[in-house]
Amino acid sequence: MKDREYPNQMTKLLMERASCRSFSEEKIPPDVLRLVLEAGTHAPNGWNLQPYSIIKIENDETKQKLAEMCGQGFISQAPVLLLFCIDWYRVERWARLSVAPFTATRSFRHFWISFQDTILCAQNLCTAADSMGLGSVYVGAVVEFLADVRDMFQLPQGVLPVVLLCLGYPKTTRPQPQRKLSVDVIVHSERYREMEDQEIIDAFGEKYHGQELEITEERLETITEVCREVHGEEFARRCLARIDENGYINRAQRDFGLECRADSMLEGNERYLGLMEEFGFDWFEVEDEIAELHHAQVGESNVEIIKGSRHQKIIGDFGENLICNWLSRSGFEVALVDHTGIDVVAYHPPTKQRLGITVKSRTRDVGKQDESVNLLSYQKVKSDRVKLSDACNAFACEPWIAVYVETPEYADVYLTSLENFDREYRGGKAKSIDTWKMTKKYKERYEQDSNVKHIRIEFHATNWEWFG
Ligand SMILES: Cc1cc2nc3c(=O)[nH]c(=O)nc-3n(C[C@H](O)[C@H](O)[C@H](O)COP(=O)(O)O)c2cc1C
Repeated sequence: MKDREYPNQMTKLLMERASCRSFSEEKIPPDVLRLVLEAGTHAPNGWNLQPYSIIKIENDETKQKLAEMCGQGFISQAPVLLLFCIDWYRVERWARLSVAPFTATRSFRHFWISFQDTILCAQNLCTAADSMGLGSVYVGAVVEFLADVRDMFQLPQGVLPVVLLCLGYPKTTRPQPQRKLSVDVIVHSERYREMEDQEIIDAFGEKYHGQELEITEERLETITEVCREVHGEEFARRCLARIDENGYINRAQRDFGLECRADSMLEGNERYLGLMEEFGFDWFEVEDEIAELHHAQVGESNVEIIKGSRHQKIIGDFGENLICNWLSRSGFEVALVDHTGIDVVAYHPPTKQRLGITVKSRTRDVGKQDESVNLLSYQKVKSDRVKLSDACNAFACEPWIAVYVETPEYADVYLTSLENFDREYRGGKAKSIDTWKMTKKYKERYEQDSNVKHIRIEFHATNWEWFG
């Protein structure tokens, strides 16, 4: 491939590119980096909306943290890391400020296109970087740590990390290009062409020639375990027989049995759906969007919610007091408590029932009323669930959860036991966070469930004009 003639520098560059995982200490001059970034953000993208953001990371500590998180040491060597994220947050704010309708975070089509936009930006940037003597490598492992990455870089809702890129000057010579499948295999003329079995074996055989992996006990054990898990005992026997017959572990067995393991790649699908929702992408949950949206228009007589940390505190206190008020009206003795893991303790003398309630209060703008409320996070050293149960043990209470969600037109209060939440709404799989769903489908389920208490308060600002 090396001696091949190319008609121009561009094709030569594209054909000789390779991922670079070893960087020199040389810094990237700011004007070079700027041009590379400009070239990336000049890429084609759907409707020219550019729904992506790039977090530029040069801080050594942050780089080290990411290297450790992803288990790939070269990350900390690169002078610049770029985190590519889908970003509908900025576009949504623009639409809001422009008084334009907006549903992109609830649309699968927008999600699909924005993913492509983000990657095209990244790859154009890589090509520009290559052309200026830089090297780069993607790190896809950020997908394993979406919530940590969000917290590290303070990503708002609607911003979703896609891939990390390491950028810098190669340490020594440029890395050798990897062999790729022939275009005759990848390109189909006019319609999809079924390949013969032998053609497939030969195509991959040529690409991965010389990459057979030596057999070790440990590798055999892992591959057997994966095969057994995903296809059963008989398949595991066949796989081992093939390895024995060949005298090596072939590339497909290595890829799916040892590296991107077929069993572990299946794990977490449900958790990812939950995470998408947490990140503000809830297209898979939303039913009957238009009906909900119509409902969501702010009434003439209502007051918009101005968000801010002081207002959040007010809403937090209000939610807790409202729960106290309604429990008191219902015959409970109630007390607000602080710094314990619960917010309200409620005691019902006739039944001797004692509730330890954690209250989550949120405001939701128009169009966001069906966004979930985060209940309990498992991402901290001591999870919220453990904190809640410790507090309830200390005060001899049953753990309960309450949610107060205030929109410009109305507020909803939900109250239920943690036991009922776990049984009916949580789903069994491991998650980074438990959420209280607010979609139409769930709201209907709550109404049918006598164990979920619900109050709706409607606001009518009948005489509340200020400053003209
Ligand atoms: C989405 C994506 C994620 C990747 N993640 C990693 C990674 O986590 N670590 C790594 O060393 N390489 C990673 N790579 C680089 C690939 O391993 C590399 O592109 C592939 O082996 C082909 O080699 P080449 O880029 O040199 O042609 C990733 C590439 C892509 C496109």
